[in-house]
Amino acid sequence: MSDRPRLLPLLATPRHGSRDAMTCLYRCGNACDHPVPNTSDNAYLGDLVNAEVSRRGVVRAGAVGALVLGLGGAAGAAAGAGAAVAAPNSPTPPAGAGNGSGGKGIGSGALTFKPIPPNTLDSLVVPNGYDHAVVIRWGDPVVPGAPRFDLRRQTAAAQAKQFGYNNDFVGVLPLDKGGKRALLVVNHEYTNEDLMFPGFTSQEALTVEQVRVAMAAHGMSVVEIERVADTGQWRPVTSGRRPYNRRVDALSSPFELTGPAAGSAFVKTAADPKGRTVIGTLNNCAGGVTPWGTVLSGEENFNQYFVGGDAVPEAEKARLARYGINTTVRYPSGSRRWDRAADRFDLAKHPNEANRHGWIVEIDPHAPQSRPRKHTALGRFKHEGANVIVARSGHVVAYLGDDERFDYLYKFVSDKKFMPGNSPVARRHNLTLLESGTLYVAKLEQTSADEIDGSGRLPRDGAFNGRGRWIKLVSGNRSFVPGMSAAEVLTFTRFAGDKVGATKMDRPEDVEPNLLTGKVYVALTNNTNRGVGSNPKPDEANPRTGNRHGQLLELVEERGDHTAETFAWSLPIVCGDPADESTYFAGYDKSKVSPISCPDNVAFDATGNLWISTDGNALGSNDGLFATALEGPERGHLKQFLTVPYGAETCGPFITGDNRSVFVAVQHPGEITGATVENPASTWPDGDYAKPGVVVTWRLDGGPIGS
Ligand code: FEO
Ligand code: CA
Ligand code: CA
Repeated sequence: MSDRPRLLPLLATPRHGSRDAMTCLYRCGNACDHPVPNTSDNAYLGDLVNAEVSRRGVVRAGAVGALVLGLGGAAGAAAGAGAAVAAPNSPTPPAGAGNGSGGKGIGSGALTFKPIPPNTLDSLVVPNGYDHAVVIRWGDPVVPGAPRFDLRRQTAAAQAKQFGYNNDFVGVLPLDKGGKRALLVVNHEYTNEDLMFPGFTSQEALTVEQVRVAMAAHGMSVVEIERVADTGQWRPVTSGRRPYNRRVDALSSPFELTGPAAGSAFVKTAADPKGRTVIGTLNNCAGGVTPWGTVLSGEENFNQYFVGGDAVPEAEKARLARYGINTTVRYPSGSRRWDRAADRFDLAKHPNEANRHGWIVEIDPHAPQSRPRKHTALGRFKHEGANVIVARSGHVVAYLGDDERFDYLYKFVSDKKFMPGNSPVARRHNLTLLESGTLYVAKLEQTSADEIDGSGRLPRDGAFNGRGRWIKLVSGNRSFVPGMSAAEVLTFTRFAGDKVGATKMDRPEDVEPNLLTGKVYVALTNNTNRGVGSNPKPDEANPRTGNRHGQLLELVEERGDHTAETFAWSLPIVCGDPADESTYFAGYDKSKVSPISCPDNVAFDATGNLWISTDGNALGSNDGLFATALEGPERGHLKQFLTVPYGAETCGPFITGDNRSVFVAVQHPGEITGATVENPASTWPDGDYAKPGVVVTWRLDGGPIGS
């Protein structure tokens, strides 16, 4: 647990939990300073009729079907009708075969590691018996021939070939049959120019070339990696052709729009009169690996990149405002001023450009020449990410969260069915699965409405729980929302959710099905506005006033059918300091669990344990990664596995299907108000200035992670 000297004291009072004002500004454009974008008066849970939970809807272990988990399997594969592959070329044997991971069934991957204590060290801390290493960091070469990173002479052309800034989603897709090679696919959510450019004074003072560097530091990276000896460690391949290595960015990469809103009037611009081709992807947050070996990426806080919202026609302003775009001044405070490098970011000139962002992106890392696509069928909002499971019927189901206070939870069900296998025909077919289908939004009911007083006290029936419905918004070109066309529902999805009375949630971040049980987990990260002033009151799914620490929601589809239109839900974990009466850990002895705050991203290991990373820990410690069993007597026994360095947030995570490696992305280390390149608040990972990077953790004795 060695620590480096922290050069800069904490200058500013943290604004939200431990999240610094700088994170608020750069990451989400000070979203919390703006009025809550959801001003709709649709009912919140407290208005709805109580309903008893029917346990008939519970999916039992194994009901999902046989699994074949490849290297990317734990987080990425899906269960089909008895057969599903993690990814093309999936090399590794089924979970449990070899590698000591057991094959003992759900919940048997006992989490025996000794939890690490909360801390504020400027280093990455893992349990005894584990080691970790940086796999790749900001500025490292990605595309062969990339110039060596030179902080003081950085160019957009160089950055476009190097690893981008602020890594978030991490996916690992197998490449060979021996489990020795894989593709690391990473999102680069946003940039922090204070920490990227020596001598930074303001956004306005950046050169246009520096603005272009920031645009090139956004987007995604695909990097071929190799296992180090026979350990759980991985590193980039540094020689040979590396044909898969690739960057896409916000500067110049073309994306194809697909689905019913592609080509609609809402997405046409002067530069793209057909409304089919978008330049750039923005604020790519979390994501998922599909069963057909592609990666999905959520465009989240895209609103902050646009200026000129004040100049759009009055009738259009409500649409911008619902998505958090400022419509009163030309340059909102803290504006990135990307209009100086590309006028498509000026809504006064290109009013539809904002409608071309806020989608789910699909990239095929196995086809480096392929054009990534933005799928309009999955709706447009502040997409946290997307995670797919194959339903028993063969249709694929994507679960989606809109990360904003009081926004909604969604799911998409494809029209077509998943085709197993890795033949060219199957590959081509599966690449079309997200282009057409049905989009639903969630409406939750509750069992103990009259007991929810904002304190977080557990209701007398022993659970925060209820039933819920998936409300159909649009199916193909057919809208189910009165007064809105299908293209309108998909482009302005938040309004559709408002109209049908969807349940206002405490910031739905990652939504991910556990492929071993079929149950779906939602990270509701926090919502300090809950129940405050005229904001919606607490309800059974969002039970605490001024919710600082967040909660986990478990969703069980009716009859275990992921295409079902009804479900049961409950809160297995209500986060915070276990000594705080408002916390809940599935009934587990709270004296034995780790404190946790602000759950953000979730993942599952090969034995079905839940791993949770945090963003903005409001308990005074660095953010980290936690794990708990979900089934059996250890359900709720949450333990902290690692912490990230000072000022950082823990992203990813991704546990390989052989259970030997845990990847996390260390995002925004040292992002503290007043910190600069010259006076950093963190010097992780190299001892000079802060650089975001992806880390792999493995067990020193080669055994399965967690045990
Ligand atoms: Fe980019 Fe919702 O976190
Ligand atoms: Ca209840
Ligand atoms: Ca996130």
